[in-house]
Parts: sequence; structure tokens; C-alpha cells
Amino acid sequence: MTSPNNPFIPSPTDFSTNSVVNSSTGRARTETATAPPLGCPAHRSSGAPALRRLFGAEAESDPMGLYERLRREHGTVAPVLVHGDVPAWLVLGYHENLEVMRSPSRFSRDSRLWHALKDGKVGPDHPLAPIVAWQPIAVFVDGAEHERLRGALNDSLGRFTSRGVRRHITRFTHLLIDDFTTDGCAELVDQFAERLPMLVMTQLLGMPEKYEPQLVEAARDMIQGTETAVSSNAYIMQLLDELVAEKRIAPGPDFASWLIEHHSKLTDTEAAQHLRLVLIAAFETTANLIANTLRRLLTDRTLRSSLAARGGHLSLPAAVEQVLWNEPPFTAIFGRWATGDTELGGQHIKAGDALILGLAAGNMDPAIRTNPGGPDDASANSSHLAFSSGPHECPGRTIGQAIADTGIDVLLTRLPDIHLAVPESELRINSSLMSQHLVELPVKFTPSPRQPEFSAPFLPGSPAAQLQPSAGQSVSDLEAGSAPAATTMPDPQHLRWWKRVTAWLRRL
Ligand code: HEM
Repeated sequence: MTSPNNPFIPSPTDFSTNSVVNSSTGRARTETATAPPLGCPAHRSSGAPALRRLFGAEAESDPMGLYERLRREHGTVAPVLVHGDVPAWLVLGYHENLEVMRSPSRFSRDSRLWHALKDGKVGPDHPLAPIVAWQPIAVFVDGAEHERLRGALNDSLGRFTSRGVRRHITRFTHLLIDDFTTDGCAELVDQFAERLPMLVMTQLLGMPEKYEPQLVEAARDMIQGTETAVSSNAYIMQLLDELVAEKRIAPGPDFASWLIEHHSKLTDTEAAQHLRLVLIAAFETTANLIANTLRRLLTDRTLRSSLAARGGHLSLPAAVEQVLWNEPPFTAIFGRWATGDTELGGQHIKAGDALILGLAAGNMDPAIRTNPGGPDDASANSSHLAFSSGPHECPGRTIGQAIADTGIDVLLTRLPDIHLAVPESELRINSSLMSQHLVELPVKFTPSPRQPEFSAPFLPGSPAAQLQPSAGQSVSDLEAGSAPAATTMPDPQHLRWWKRVTAWLRRL
């Protein structure tokens, strides 16, 4: 099956077999086994614990419990099985995760090193293929080529001012709240958490009015996504190709233009591919962060009453930071390969072995979290692994956190008595290899009138248009870049790609 390859997007599953732990009973059972490769972590000598799967019922029902069992059985680095019972290493230790992230010469981002790809165990139809199929983008390269591509990403993202970004976030937040504020109820995953990041990102990218509604509607639609359509991926790439071509002729104060004009001299294809990377990387992660933080605030009275705005000791950014420690939007990243035989956490890693960065597991490592939730807990600072570290560390951290902080702040201010509409026990979370996703967050609140003055598009000269220009731009440039979205409905055909993206991400 072909697919829109993306490092963050898994695809549907088909499984082969091996010696595994039954997910529901915890007992080892044997399915059809293939010949054990030398040194393969899937084939343990007798007496060693059977390998656990990072997919299936055990992993999906209680991933954090599974990580702790693996930590007890193997220490800071555990041999595991991924889809198709292909062996890999899950890095559970905080320090070991940092060691992998910060040592690209030992642990590369280049998936072509993976022996499972070389020997055909992971072929084009394998569920991991879409996230490991190598592409010439920043995610898959190291060294000088990574510096060239990351330089363009970093410098272009760095040109946004925090004030300017927050004004966009505030405006779109009001716009979204106005959609449901008179109803007295809403479903915040669908109507808020998933929509806000895409609205902001399309604006920052500089998507023309005619494109924005498609992408926003697509983002809104993602939660229900199960369909697949390669043609929709082609459509999105066509939009981004067109965007690049338009910005070459008429650049604006936006990410697409800054990426193109960067001295790294990205080709048009590279520019379009990195625009897609940024859109995808920003969307699901930030939506998860917003949803997880809102869920915590709505279910943890102590936390909510501790917010500084309500006279307590905790600020909203600090509450978001706690969520990044305890429920990082990406729970794991499947994406490092050993360049040679090496040792990590007492385990012998062979050249070409795959490593999974256990971000959620590393954040809960007892070596650094001696007293989770206590006054001396590490979660009081921001040294968690949620954004990774080293050369591939997330370049969108500031923007992602600004969207979550500002959006939630405005929401809680406008709907001060917001509360869950269902018992907490009815909230469902979908777990997958890379993320945990809250399915729905139904809430109630006292209906209040719309406040269109906040959500009105920035008109030249209006207070909302007074964005702080970054180097080389005028305020009028920024005003021009803040044009409102058109309101045409997207072609349903084109939404399928987005549905597929979400379906994959949540399934793996
Ligand atoms: C709360 C929100 C976010 C979280 C938790 C997050 C987390 C991550 C993580 C864990 C990685 C993988 C790093 C690695 O392989 O070591 C990553 C990569 C990346 N993220 Fe984010 N991200 C978020 C938001 C964003 C936003 C808003 C943007 C863009 C504006 C963005 C752009 C990227 C890009 C381009 C990469 C690839 C970097 C590379 O490989 O060099 N992310 N992110």
C-alpha cells in the first residue's frame, strides 16, 4: 500500500508472528516463529523474561504500566517487539534517552541503517514503513545536511515574535469559543484542541485565504478519521507546491517566504516538504497538549484552584509544564538507529538496531523522579523529554507551548465555570506506540454572548493589528499577513488525507 510518508505518521497494521507475551494474560505464548537472527533481542535464552510487545492490548490499555514492568525486568533499556514482532530497544531511562538524543554519531536518525529494512522484515506494506521510509528532510538526516535544513527551519521559525504569535492565538481562540459559547456545552477535543493549532499554523505558514478553510476543516474532521486516500496527500502537496511558487513571486511576512529566502537555499521541493513536516509535527502534538492539560484542569480541583490567576501558587504555563512531564504529547519516538555495535544502559546494541526514545517513560524514571507530585519533584522545572534534546530537538517548542498556554488561558477566562459534562471515568484515551490521545472532552458552562470584537479579523489600523514586526518587516506587512480566512467548504475528497494521518498516528 502506498502512503503519504511522514516520519510522524504510522499506517495501518498487519502482523507476523513470534514468541510474545499475551497482552491480556501476561503469559508467554508462542506463535509461528521465524528463524532467530544472531543476537536478536526477540529470542531470549531460557530464564530470561519473554519479550513484550509495544502494540496490542497490554500496550494500548496501560502503556505506563507496561513501561514500569519493562523497567523492572530489564532496567533502563529494554528489548521489545514492535509491529510484526520486529525487535527493537525501548529506552526507559531519563539519562539514557538524553545519551541517545545527544549522540548522533552513535545513534543516527538515518532509517536506512535498520537491518529490518535491509533484510526485508519491514517492507513497504509494514505498518512502520510510513515513519521509517527515508526521505531527504531534516528528520532523517544528521551532520552537515541536517544543519543546512534545520538552519532554515530554526531561522524561519525564529523570525516570529512571541507577541505576534500570541495575537494570532488569541484571535483564533476567541473565534473558536464564539462558535459554541451560546450553547452552554461543547466537545473540546473536536471544537477546540484540534482546531486551534491548525488555525494558528496555517496563518503562520502564510497559507492564502483560499487554502486555509480546507486545512482547518480537515483538522476539525481528523478525530473521526479512518479512511485513507493517497490522492488527498497529493492534493496537500499540490497546495504546498503552489504556496511555494506563489511566495517565490510575492513573498510575505510568513514562514513559507522566510523558508524559501533562507541562505540554505532550499529547493522548491525541499521547501514544500518542510512546510508539510511543520504542519504535521505541530498539529497532533499541540492538540494533545491542549486536550491533556484541559482534562487535568477539569478533573483535578486542587490543580485548578492552584492557578495563580485564581489566587493560588501555580501559573498556567507551569501547569502545562507538569503535563509535559507526566503526559508528553509524543509518548515515544521511533527514530534512532545504531551506527555500530555499542552499549547503552548495560545492553549490547548491535549496528543497525532500532531504538525507541521513551519520552513518557524517561520522564517518570525513578532516577530523577524520586517524589512525583511532591514539593521537590522534578516537574517544577522544564527539563523533561517532551521536546526531545540534541540536534533533532523540536524547533517548535515555543510556538507549541504558546498555543497551549494562551488558548487555555483565554478559554478559562471566558468560560469561568466550565466543568466536565460526564463523569471522569467515561473519558476515553486511545493509546498507540507514539502517543496517547484523548477521544472526547465534553463540557458544560453557563452560556454567554459572542464577543466578535475579539475574533474580528485584524484590519489595518485596528489595535489587534499592532503586531510587533520582526527584523526586516513593517507593521503593514504583518497586517497584510493577517487577512481573514475565506469561508468556502473543503472538498470532502481532500479531507481524507487528514483523516488518514490521524488514524495512523493514533493506531500505532
Ligand atoms: C507541544 C507541542 C509539541 C511537542 C510536544 C513536540 C515534540 C517533538 C518531538 C518529540 C520531536 C522529535 C525530536 C527527535 O526526533 O529527537 C519533534 C520534532 C519536530 N517538531 Fe515538534 N513538537 C511540538 C510542536 C511543534 C511545533 C508547533 C512545530 C512547528 C512550529 C514543531 C516542529 C517540529 C519539527 C520540524 C520537528 C523535526 C525536527 C528535526 O528532526 O530536526 N513541533 N517535536
